[in-house]
Amino acid sequence: MYAMLLHIDGGSIMSSLRKNEQKSISITIDGKECKGIFGQTILDIARENEIYIPTMCYLTKVLPIASCRMCVVDVEGVDGLILSCQEKAVDGAVITTQNAELYKERQNIMKLYNVNHPLECGVCDQSGECDLQNKTMEFGLEGQSFTAKEPSRPVQNWGHVSYDPALCIMCEKCVRVSTEITGDEALKVKFGGYSSTIENVKLDKNFATLGEAAAVCPVGALVDTNFKYSANAWELTKIPSSCPHCGGGHDVTYETRRGKIYRVSNEAEFTTMCSASRYGFDFANEGVTKDREAFKNAVEAFNSAKSIIFSNEISNEEALILQKLKELKGYKLVSYEARAYQKFMNAYSTISGKNLYGGNLKTLESSRAIIVVGSRVNDDAPLVKYSINKASKHHRARVCYMHPIEDGNISNIVTQFIKYDALSEEGVVALLVDTLLKDIEVPDNIRAVLDDLDIGNLSAETNIGEEELETLRKSLIKKVGYSLVVGADLYSHPRAENMAKMVALLEKYARFNIIVTPPAGNGMGISLICDLDDKADGATIGYNAKGDFTLSSMGGGDLDMPSLIQQEGTLTSIDKRVVPINVALAYGGYVLNDIANALGLSAEFTIDYTKALPLSKGFKDVEFDSLPNNFDISGNENRGYLLDEIEIENSISIEEPIEVEGIDGAVVYNCNPEEHFSPFTAKSKILSTEANLLGSQQFATASKLRDGDSVKFTIDDIKFTRVFKIDTSLKGTIALNPTYDMGLSTALLSSYRFNRLEKVGS
Ligand code: SF4
Ligand code: SF4
Ligand code: FES
Repeated sequence: MYAMLLHIDGGSIMSSLRKNEQKSISITIDGKECKGIFGQTILDIARENEIYIPTMCYLTKVLPIASCRMCVVDVEGVDGLILSCQEKAVDGAVITTQNAELYKERQNIMKLYNVNHPLECGVCDQSGECDLQNKTMEFGLEGQSFTAKEPSRPVQNWGHVSYDPALCIMCEKCVRVSTEITGDEALKVKFGGYSSTIENVKLDKNFATLGEAAAVCPVGALVDTNFKYSANAWELTKIPSSCPHCGGGHDVTYETRRGKIYRVSNEAEFTTMCSASRYGFDFANEGVTKDREAFKNAVEAFNSAKSIIFSNEISNEEALILQKLKELKGYKLVSYEARAYQKFMNAYSTISGKNLYGGNLKTLESSRAIIVVGSRVNDDAPLVKYSINKASKHHRARVCYMHPIEDGNISNIVTQFIKYDALSEEGVVALLVDTLLKDIEVPDNIRAVLDDLDIGNLSAETNIGEEELETLRKSLIKKVGYSLVVGADLYSHPRAENMAKMVALLEKYARFNIIVTPPAGNGMGISLICDLDDKADGATIGYNAKGDFTLSSMGGGDLDMPSLIQQEGTLTSIDKRVVPINVALAYGGYVLNDIANALGLSAEFTIDYTKALPLSKGFKDVEFDSLPNNFDISGNENRGYLLDEIEIENSISIEEPIEVEGIDGAVVYNCNPEEHFSPFTAKSKILSTEANLLGSQQFATASKLRDGDSVKFTIDDIKFTRVFKIDTSLKGTIALNPTYDMGLSTALLSSYRFNRLEKVGS
């Protein structure tokens, strides 16, 4: 019944598709001449030209599902109706999207959708934003023409999301996002004819996938239990903003009513939220009023302080205020993670010749081969993991994951796991660069260093076999589009700068798309805006960090500050985009700008600094109020602006890696669980979890700990008291130590992420 114009059959056609990728075509839709690119579907081109074709199962960010058939169109010269969501447009095609036959076809589909559907919209959470409700009206269905015997299908409780099979239209969007986006493949179709349902095969807590599934569900079948029956969609005020948690900076919309955030949504058609952005929204510093005495004390403290220590959870504008205060008063500015990142990127740019890395999430998701080194990426940067998953599912990308700890959460997409010893990262990067630049021309001094590498020694030191690297090298041959993701294990490493230079060689000479995952929060923005120092001295001001005088957005300090959902300003995202944040909840206290004004700076509002962000670092002279925050109908991002790339004078040289002794015995790795990034996500009621030290049985034996033991240890003078739990999914002698729950101390962690476990009692 449904005709096909072109079958895309596996990889054989991919090369010709790539050759034709940018070839423009022209088709006629409803009498309008529409331009497109070879490879685009009819629906893509129609949408770009603002021509409406109804859909029920289409979701832009996944491959066409083609289960609903609402998108049928008529193509001149082709017998039968065409599914416009999956059919590639052919140059010169003449297409009709609306006529009596198509209307009838779509109306019949809607009648089938409504067989036994309760249409109890008055008590359904989706009401007001339900595709089924809207299209039932659009196609003039006033009654249910067909009925069928209704099987018993009780509502299923999946924790923070519930599933009502009676409302489910089996569009499969939820299944596709769990497979193609978040990647844990938790949701499956349980086939059974009219009784088909969706099955959740991972009933343990699963915030990212279930939240995402509920967001894309077009009807009320999947709903957040925390939101259920709490408010009607049309009563909520929508405040567009950007996520402040992981450094991804993607779009979020706070949905509020009477001073409360009810839920957080996004442009789910195009973008994806991780669990923290969807559920970590209740971190406002509430009930604060202007405390004049505390403000006076703050100004005095700034007048006698020598250093300001701060966390990454501040805006670009606040970072600029701190920088200007440094210029005025000579403070040392200390933000440990951002400083490590800054040093890494400064070294990187001496080779690449640019102040920013070249890759972004889009280049990552279109890659055919990806290497990750120095990041537990599923936990450190969920958005990066989603892009890698997309590349794996959409392009069958090869994914090589290099890390001291295997991660079962990504084993379904990893094609090669290369395990190395903690602290040996410089040797790992040297081996990797040597392998990948083997047949590529590089300057003589670089070739000399690579030729001088003692590969046998490095193999022994890192524990990476030469055959593993050879397998990696061979697997990349004939691939087009490489990406390398490097993370905090590299930039927190004592030899970070030499590694940065080696990594940059791959961007410069091997055309890798590189992403250096920024620290959570606004670490990238801070690293670009502030001249950071390595260490504090003298009396300190802490901002969201413990200091002699503490400004805190979390409460518990000497003067309250607004959190990032109570401020206007901007953040800098992993995609090198300056994105706006807006006030979701009001704040009644003093802000950093008030202190700065009292100390001699002059700006009416914090956002007066938006247009003063440093042009020399790629920021633009743009007023905050002119920053857009939306997507067009085709999903093109129109949010804030992209940083300009600044050319840096390069001097191409690297050093030989130095020999290191491994870390013996039981080791702890500072790593937060996937849902958490900072003390701000720690405040989330929905995400609330116990922060335990998680290790394998082998770790338990090496550290003489039993499941449930309490253990005390110190890292960077910060005292941790943890309950130890055996995690059977972990192997080896490295345990995961969360840091997000350490409040104002979290920002004081400054060292390499792996540390020997030095117990100080139990
Ligand atoms: S899923 Fe949609 S159509 Fe069905 S009851 Fe809910 S709002 Fe109404
Ligand atoms: S639960 Fe929602 S998204 Fe999933 S198949 Fe049913 S209607 Fe579609
Ligand atoms: S949108 Fe094309 S089949 Fe559903």
